[in-house]
Amino acid sequence: MQLLPLFAVFGLALAETGINGWLRYAALPSSVSWPSIPKHIVVLNTTKTSPVYTAGQELQRGIQSILGQGCHISNDKHEESIVVGTLDAYVAAYGKLNESVELKGDGYWLSTGSKTVILGQNERGALYGAFEYLSMLAQGHFSTVSYASSPDAPIRWVNQWDNLDGSIERGFGGASIFFANGTVVNDLTRVSEYARLLASVGINAVVVNNVNANATLLSPHNIDGLGRIADTMRPYGVQVGIALYFASPSSGVQGQANLTTFDPLDPSVVTWWSNVTEQIYERVPDMAGYLVKANSEGQPGPLTYNRTLAEGANLFAKALQPHGGIVMFRAFVYNQLNESDWKADRANAAVDFFKPLDGQFDDNVVVQIKYGPIDFQVREPASPLFANLYHTNTAIELQVSQEYLGQQTHLVYLPPLWDTILGFDMRVDNQTSLVHDIISGRTFDRPLGGYAAVVNVGTNQTWLGSHLSMANFYAYGRLAWNPAEDTTKIHEEWTRLTFGLDPQLVNTITNMALESWPAYENYSGNLGVQTLTDILYTHFGPNPQSQDNNGWGQWTRADHNTIGMDRTVSNGTGYAGTYPPEVAAIYENISTTPDNLLLWFHHVPYTQQLKSGKTVIQHFYDAHYSGAETAQTFATQWQTLASKIDTQRFNEQLCRLKYQAGHSLVWRDAICNFYHNVSGIADELNRVGNHPWRIEAESMTLKGYKQYTVSPFETASNYHAVVTSDNITTGSVSTTLHFPSGIYDIGVNFYDLYGGESHFEMLINNKGVATWRGDSEDYLGHTPSIYLDGHSARRITFEGVAVKEGDVFGIVGTPDGIEPAPLDYMVFLLKGVLD
Ligand SMILES: *[C@@H]1O[C@H](CO)[C@@H](O)[C@H](O)[C@H]1NC(C)=O
Ligand SMILES: *[C@@H]1O[C@H](CO)[C@@H](O)[C@H](O)[C@H]1NC(C)=O
Ligand SMILES: *[C@@H]1O[C@H](CO)[C@@H](O)[C@H](O)[C@H]1NC(C)=O
Ligand SMILES: *[C@@H]1O[C@H](CO)[C@@H](O)[C@H](O)[C@H]1NC(C)=O
Ligand SMILES: *[C@@H]1O[C@H](CO)[C@@H](O)[C@H](O)[C@H]1NC(C)=O
Ligand SMILES: *[C@@H]1O[C@H](CO)[C@@H](O)[C@H](O)[C@H]1NC(C)=O
Ligand SMILES: *[C@@H]1O[C@H](CO)[C@@H](O)[C@H](O)[C@H]1NC(C)=O
Ligand SMILES: *[C@@H]1O[C@H](CO)[C@@H](O)[C@H](O)[C@H]1NC(C)=O
Ligand SMILES: *[C@@H]1O[C@H](CO)[C@@H](O)[C@H](O)[C@H]1NC(C)=O
Ligand SMILES: *[C@@H]1O[C@H](CO)[C@@H](O)[C@H](O)[C@H]1NC(C)=O
Ligand SMILES: *[C@@H]1O[C@H](CO)[C@@H](O)[C@H](O)[C@H]1NC(C)=O
Ligand SMILES: *[C@@H]1O[C@H](CO)[C@@H](O)[C@H](O)[C@H]1NC(C)=O
Repeated sequence: MQLLPLFAVFGLALAETGINGWLRYAALPSSVSWPSIPKHIVVLNTTKTSPVYTAGQELQRGIQSILGQGCHISNDKHEESIVVGTLDAYVAAYGKLNESVELKGDGYWLSTGSKTVILGQNERGALYGAFEYLSMLAQGHFSTVSYASSPDAPIRWVNQWDNLDGSIERGFGGASIFFANGTVVNDLTRVSEYARLLASVGINAVVVNNVNANATLLSPHNIDGLGRIADTMRPYGVQVGIALYFASPSSGVQGQANLTTFDPLDPSVVTWWSNVTEQIYERVPDMAGYLVKANSEGQPGPLTYNRTLAEGANLFAKALQPHGGIVMFRAFVYNQLNESDWKADRANAAVDFFKPLDGQFDDNVVVQIKYGPIDFQVREPASPLFANLYHTNTAIELQVSQEYLGQQTHLVYLPPLWDTILGFDMRVDNQTSLVHDIISGRTFDRPLGGYAAVVNVGTNQTWLGSHLSMANFYAYGRLAWNPAEDTTKIHEEWTRLTFGLDPQLVNTITNMALESWPAYENYSGNLGVQTLTDILYTHFGPNPQSQDNNGWGQWTRADHNTIGMDRTVSNGTGYAGTYPPEVAAIYENISTTPDNLLLWFHHVPYTQQLKSGKTVIQHFYDAHYSGAETAQTFATQWQTLASKIDTQRFNEQLCRLKYQAGHSLVWRDAICNFYHNVSGIADELNRVGNHPWRIEAESMTLKGYKQYTVSPFETASNYHAVVTSDNITTGSVSTTLHFPSGIYDIGVNFYDLYGGESHFEMLINNKGVATWRGDSEDYLGHTPSIYLDGHSARRITFEGVAVKEGDVFGIVGTPDGIEPAPLDYMVFLLKGVLD
């Protein structure tokens, strides 16, 4: 037996689950040398619940782990020490600082050297500074620095869409870490670990329950549970917020009064909310505030009683005001619309509802606005509402959870998308007015504002289900702190902390990340047409026609000749005119609208020529082929890092990247087939509908299998698949191969439904060459489908199989549960061929 080199043994042995995220504090490689680091940590607050105390513990743990150096924690003064505390506590103990330090709320001062000083404007600021210092050490940065850093905005929250039964709406990383069985879980270990991750990137509050809220959260028992959550997160400086069900007063909440109304102006309702708010603050004195989704998607709200949204928001604002809490009131309010009305437009809803209310919201209300006017699409213009509220606090709502964006089974690094919004210049009053300056409060001189992101971590050890998706979480915190920070640098930093300092590793993973959003946009929805996921079902796989002929208003208005929403003032919905004049003028005209938003603003023929010179339809085809091709490279790029990443994380991510490679082809073909079918315009390069290396399952010899017409049609090659005749009996498909003899990668496109785990065996000349199961529901974590469609369609590839002309090729499928071993096609790929 050959002995493995020592490092390889280590590499394999140290399996990592991902639970530490970017806070692994991995030992620095021996190639890095460093100056001496103080061995004393002076902690200027010894109360165990203080973030300053936590900072001391974290510094000790981090320095031990990264540098292998033990540190002594005390509050005695030492010459060579790391001092951590608030600026005020430092001045009280040591006298004035040499430098004049200006810190905004939650900011910190970091000065390194033989004496290292980490001072916060407040206690959590000191903890942020400690995490920053540890991040430097973990990345091998030992230069002496002296600087102040303060967050760009006071509100840096995350939203969890957790239900009290433990499920999570749009959660793709397991069940809730907060709730189960209608109440708060007993073991809050994961909540503490989550708070640590949040604090390390400057997040200061978590709304712990779903915006589609449940009144039972307000029972005395559950209020006590919220208290336990708050106690758990407080040492990390993370506050608890909750989402409210507007009709709670009349919902019969156990242990609370039950009214017959929830009218926000009814005195009994006002009293009810101030009473409940009082109870919450008794248990959670530092509760951050409430998040409210009202009169949206079936939720009750003030409009139910003909009251304004401002009256609804102010109801909570007044209850919270004595306690210092704030109301995050979501702007996601819209009505069902009729597509036969050319001027109807859901994108207008937020401005229609909220602009007339500007100035009517109390000072502790913040209107929380999704980044675009529809709903977390792969590309949207910045919501015009940001530019229409001069006298109202605003915050942006981003989504780390990849609803519409691959549900964490596709690699999509989102900060470059967020950048298109945060850095967008609204030209309010013809002046520079970047969205991030509006939400920080600078542009309109507002006291409050900032950031909220839907994160939806779960009980899975990876938090989000995918190791690489954690970069979105990390970057969200960094950008909420400083939106001008470079998103490539953020990713490199995250990679060093998460996987190691090796430059090849950092460059490869960052390169994959930077290619990922453009690739996803290319193989999903182009030119501002929206993502084209199934909006009526799981928001995951392709289903372009689901956008139209319904009341949800995410329309494309695609017909045989034309596509796109006419949002002009001159002939369309008028949406373009809701931007300030300079921006409105750009979007009003096709000639000045950027290609990537053309179909958002204009209804054009498929033959419309883009600035690139291509037609709309040819751009669709080319982008889909190019995006899917890029997605094929992610797994290959990742595989070059096999020796540099621990086995568990390497394999788990590889599995997802291979899935993405296959599913990007499902996307490519579905969208190309759909628009080819609807427009009748051929692909100039003759790729669409032309698949020389495929064998359709329905054209094979079927035994115990029957043909099945897939819906939507475009999610099956040649519209058809095959399924077993019943859901008990094994069947088979077979054919004689006419491809030239050679070594092939054999891809099998099949459907992997939720509710069964069919077994498949691939045979060549009756000899088994591979087996697999349709069992992705056990590990992929995306919203599963019970149908043969674009969500369940996937490809599995077997590499390097020797095949001879004339071989008999077959697959034996054994159904299970509701999954009838469905097969779409097989594809035989020589090196360099992609079909
Ligand atoms: C120490 O920490 C506790 C808990 O956070 C806090 O109440 C107290 O004010 C802090 N003391 C000082 C001097 O900052
Ligand atoms: C402050 O200035 C004094 C005198 O110049 C110097 O001895 C000391 O090291 C300085 N302290 C820090 C923390 O830089
Ligand atoms: C929820 O209740 C079920 C059934 O009573 C129990 O098996 C399970 O352990 C509970 N879960 C939690 C997290 O308490
Ligand atoms: C709230 O939760 C309870 C108990 O789980 C459930 O019966 C009720 O339907 C939920 N209400 C809403 C509005 O979701
Ligand atoms: C609470 O009030 C609502 C509305 O008036 C009523 O439908 C419900 O039955 C009441 N619930 C309880 C537990 O009294
Ligand atoms: C809330 O109302 C209940 C009666 O429903 C009363 O017993 C309790 O004292 C009130 N609590 C507060 C904090 O006002
Ligand atoms: C709602 O208010 C409007 C305007 O004040 C009024 O015209 C309308 O009749 C009211 N509707 C109801 C149901 O009270
Ligand atoms: C939409 O409007 C058209 C034309 O006015 C009408 O025929 C159709 O019934 C409406 N559809 C719905 C769902 O209201
Ligand atoms: C103007 O709007 C009508 C619908 O009212 C539409 O049919 C037509 O195509 C639009 N014209 C242009 C030039 O976009
Ligand atoms: C702002 O710009 C628009 C469009 O360029 C122009 O029409 C308008 O006069 C300008 N307003 C001011 C106050 O300069
Ligand atoms: C948790 O995520 C990992 C990595 O994606 C996956 O392998 C594992 O099956 C997941 N576990 C559950 C219970 O979903
Ligand atoms: C077959 O499928 C049906 C529903 O389609 C289901 O009720 C039944 O339990 C399945 N049979 C088996 C053996 O799983």
